[in-house]
Amino acid sequence: MGPLCDFTVALLLLAFALSTCLCINNSSNREARLVRSVYAFQNKSTQHERLVNNNYNPAKTSKNSVETKKVHPESSNEADISRDSKCTMAPESRFNCARDRVLSQGECEERGCCYAPLPDSAGPPWCFYPSLYPGYNMGPLSPTPRGQEATLTRATPSHLPGDISTLHLDVIQETAGCFHLTLKDPSAQRYEVNLPAGVPQTEADTKEALYTTEYQSDPFGFIVRRKSNGRVIMNTTVAPLLFADQYLQLSTALTSPLVSGLGEHYTSLLLDLNWTSLTLWNKDMAPHADANLYGSHPFFIVQEEDGSAHGVFLLNSNAVEVMLQPSPALTWVALGGIFDLYVFLGPDAPSVIRQYLQVIGYPMMPPYWSLGFHLCRWGYTTSKTTRRVAQRMHDAKFPMDVQWNDLDYADKRRVFTFDPWRFGDLPQMVDEFHKKGMKYILILDPGISSSSPPGTYSPFDDGLKRDVFIKNATGQVLIGKVWPGPTAFPDFTNPETRSWWEDCIRDFHSKVPVDGLWIDMNEPASFVQGSVDGCPDSDLENPPYTPRVVGGQLNTGTLCMSAQQNLSTHYNLHNMYGLTEAFATHRALLKVRGKRPFVLSRSSFPGIGRFSGVWTGDVMSDWEQLRYSIPAVLQFSLFGVPLVGADICGFEGNTTEELCVRWMQLGAFYPFMRNHNDRPNAPQEPFIFGQKAQAAMRSVLNLRYSLLPFLYTLFHHAHTSAETVARPLFMEFPTDPNCQSIDRQFLWGSSLLISPVLEQGAVELAAYLPPATWYSLHNGQPFYSKGQYLLLPAPLDTINVHVREGHIIPQQEPALTTAASRRNSFYLTVALTAGGWAHGDLFWDDGESLDTFETGNYCYLVFIAGQSQVVSDPLRLTGALDGLVLGGLQVFGVPSPPLYVLANGDKVRDFTYRSDTKVLIVTGLDLPMSKVFTVQWAL
Ligand SMILES: *[C@@H]1O[C@H](CO)[C@@H](O)[C@H](O)[C@H]1NC(C)=O
Ligand SMILES: *[C@@H]1O[C@H](CO)[C@@H](O)[C@H](O)[C@H]1NC(C)=O
Ligand SMILES: *[C@@H]1O[C@H](CO)[C@@H](O)[C@H](O)[C@H]1NC(C)=O
Ligand SMILES: *[C@@H]1O[C@H](CO)[C@@H](O)[C@H](O)[C@H]1NC(C)=O
Ligand SMILES: *[C@@H]1O[C@H](CO)[C@@H](O)[C@H](O)[C@H]1NC(C)=O
Repeated sequence: MGPLCDFTVALLLLAFALSTCLCINNSSNREARLVRSVYAFQNKSTQHERLVNNNYNPAKTSKNSVETKKVHPESSNEADISRDSKCTMAPESRFNCARDRVLSQGECEERGCCYAPLPDSAGPPWCFYPSLYPGYNMGPLSPTPRGQEATLTRATPSHLPGDISTLHLDVIQETAGCFHLTLKDPSAQRYEVNLPAGVPQTEADTKEALYTTEYQSDPFGFIVRRKSNGRVIMNTTVAPLLFADQYLQLSTALTSPLVSGLGEHYTSLLLDLNWTSLTLWNKDMAPHADANLYGSHPFFIVQEEDGSAHGVFLLNSNAVEVMLQPSPALTWVALGGIFDLYVFLGPDAPSVIRQYLQVIGYPMMPPYWSLGFHLCRWGYTTSKTTRRVAQRMHDAKFPMDVQWNDLDYADKRRVFTFDPWRFGDLPQMVDEFHKKGMKYILILDPGISSSSPPGTYSPFDDGLKRDVFIKNATGQVLIGKVWPGPTAFPDFTNPETRSWWEDCIRDFHSKVPVDGLWIDMNEPASFVQGSVDGCPDSDLENPPYTPRVVGGQLNTGTLCMSAQQNLSTHYNLHNMYGLTEAFATHRALLKVRGKRPFVLSRSSFPGIGRFSGVWTGDVMSDWEQLRYSIPAVLQFSLFGVPLVGADICGFEGNTTEELCVRWMQLGAFYPFMRNHNDRPNAPQEPFIFGQKAQAAMRSVLNLRYSLLPFLYTLFHHAHTSAETVARPLFMEFPTDPNCQSIDRQFLWGSSLLISPVLEQGAVELAAYLPPATWYSLHNGQPFYSKGQYLLLPAPLDTINVHVREGHIIPQQEPALTTAASRRNSFYLTVALTAGGWAHGDLFWDDGESLDTFETGNYCYLVFIAGQSQVVSDPLRLTGALDGLVLGGLQVFGVPSPPLYVLANGDKVRDFTYRSDTKVLIVTGLDLPMSKVFTVQWAL
């Protein structure tokens, strides 16, 4: 391809970059349909008891229903035969009819379900729904301005207490690629999720929908097909819809077993469909298998057999359980709210993520410095220790931007204070860091100490006065227990709480000018169950059905479910606590500092990427956790949280030198890079290790810092176009079956392939290189891959990173802080295709002002290589690049030695060419970045 062609590519790139969040949107498409459902608080007495007593028995209650009798036979001979014929499905296609409790054969058959024991009690259920089990009956569909609606009625009660027997179905075509279905109770307002306002509205879209829908009216179910090829994306007729007050259930067949998402769990990138159950219930729980962890993301993406993809999002903040089975199929169970379901048709994986983020919001643009290295430990017990750590990092020449403190800084562990003895000069310490071009962040827990003498701790006193705390069921402030002892919990769904929080942050910031805030313990975590007074006995605390959660009950390690917040009960809002806190903290920092906020949150929910980054919590210092940190990071990419990383070298337990080196190497490619350690452990700052380990860590930190202009540009594309930063291989190589499951390697954007060592003692690794030419970033050595595993050397000082042909990576000479590196010379790494072309881009601004893209206060350059030259094209310029120069470039894949090199037409003296690797290196340039430049080599 010649330069003209490349230029077109560049312009297309630019057009893409400039189009913020174009939500392709909908219009009334005939094929889109809406479903609504219904729900009411009936049956106040404990439903649990009823179930146990079997008072709710559809077989009994439906005895005189003629209609049900057809599909719900009693034990006549005729009925037995009819049941048998409906119970013949393969074991993997069975849908559990006894999810709420174990049923005997008699109890199972009383429900009208099939009973067929298997050798193993794990795996397929023994009690399962027959085909055409009675459910809701759908009335006629009628058109609405943007879709269709219908009424669903249930003639036969389900086995659940609190059935909602009439539902309103509403179907909307949001955009050509987005099908939206809701089921609500038309007779009573039920709780519905309210995401923080400000997600840009999708624009009207007159494009033809990518899907078609069909409905089965009795029992109700729907089918979504991909229009282009007729593939069935969803088929909910496989099992009955259930909609009771505290139990909603919907099953669907899946089109392929390649499912990712449904976080936060300790899993590989592809989920295990072998009768797995995943609970989404935010929990202060160190990552391990089979546990619900800190965040809830009821979203999954499915890779289809031809490389296209679709996604499904259940907008529901109640406890959610998802059952996966190998047929393949999936069952959603939610303990409240409504069915608010989105299906994203892609047709490719990046489009699925964009469509999802059009609903929950695009990620924020992080400050440039936050992409540097962060160092933290619980156990920097004084400001003196904290200073010394930062100084030793500096003296040992490790790049580092941000020094952190864990709770050590606080006076009696109370937030918004600092210890007068151990951290008496905290304000001065922060000023000193600032003078050195560094930043400072500390931890901020939501729990507000409630036991200080009145008049001595204003966050609590003011909070009481302003009525900002969560109340218990009888209307008094709910008191739990966290690090400072008894604590009250701010209710961030209350607007008054957000302004009180802002005032607390403003007041603290006027003393300690922090650059960002780290919001921990915000599941929210508490060391007592529910509250210091326990919790009342109610259906909220003990629902008729509780999915498997760590601790056994929903209120273990958190607040009472009956606690009252401004928008609803904690039962409904629990999973959103971290999101609402991140929203309030982001807004407060924005107002107080007037600069781009940095917030890091442990708990998460859809939409949190708009306000915050996330880290993966209390990981162990071991090799397995190192390995599973990659799928964890990649899943948050899919969830719209590009700024994510795991605690490097591990948080819990002692690291080893080798593990810590390998973790620093991988961590240098986490979008968010922080080394963080727990109190009792052996130290793990880079400077405490031996010289060889230190050299390896220094080298990879310098590599990261050199790549920050590229990383920042990727964040720009995430912010404006919902692209991913750390990216699974399947998103770039969707038709390569080898890439479907890879999660030991990943990409930065579309062009850098990262292949870390994840095993103890390994000094080489088998890395998969998808079909393309890949160049080692270290020396430009090319690999012409047909899509194959390659054994690569990986001694302790090396992490393998490859550049994909056709791409240009903008880099900058590293320095010990980004404040310094941002003034250094840029250079370009140019990875040519066989035809000799490549392209890349650079987004640049001052790194911390608000809304630079939105207000046009930024520079955007494209770089194009072709016909033995590289040219820059500054498509948008402000002053941000003034004084910055291009100091050189390295060109990979130059077929023969150049006779000479010209920069803007002048002969260049400093260049080298290696015939073995075919790498041209040009140094000593001094070309202003704010002007068009051309570097040519004559072959
Ligand atoms: C949907 O699932 C039902 C039950 O398994 C099956 O009979 C039907 O053929 C499926 N429909 C489509 C379009 O796949
Ligand atoms: C599924 O899990 C069961 C045990 O729970 C095991 O015996 C079986 O081999 C697994 N199947 C597959 C395909 O992994
Ligand atoms: C609410 O809190 C008050 C004060 O701590 C306590 O006396 C009361 O029992 C609590 N109510 C419930 C339902 O726990
Ligand atoms: C919610 O908060 C607003 C503003 O603080 C207040 O006026 C309103 O009464 C609160 N509602 C409830 C149910 O607490
Ligand atoms: C971890 O390291 C600390 C400090 O070096 C030491 O006291 C402790 O015994 C170690 N723990 C284990 C489990 O080895």
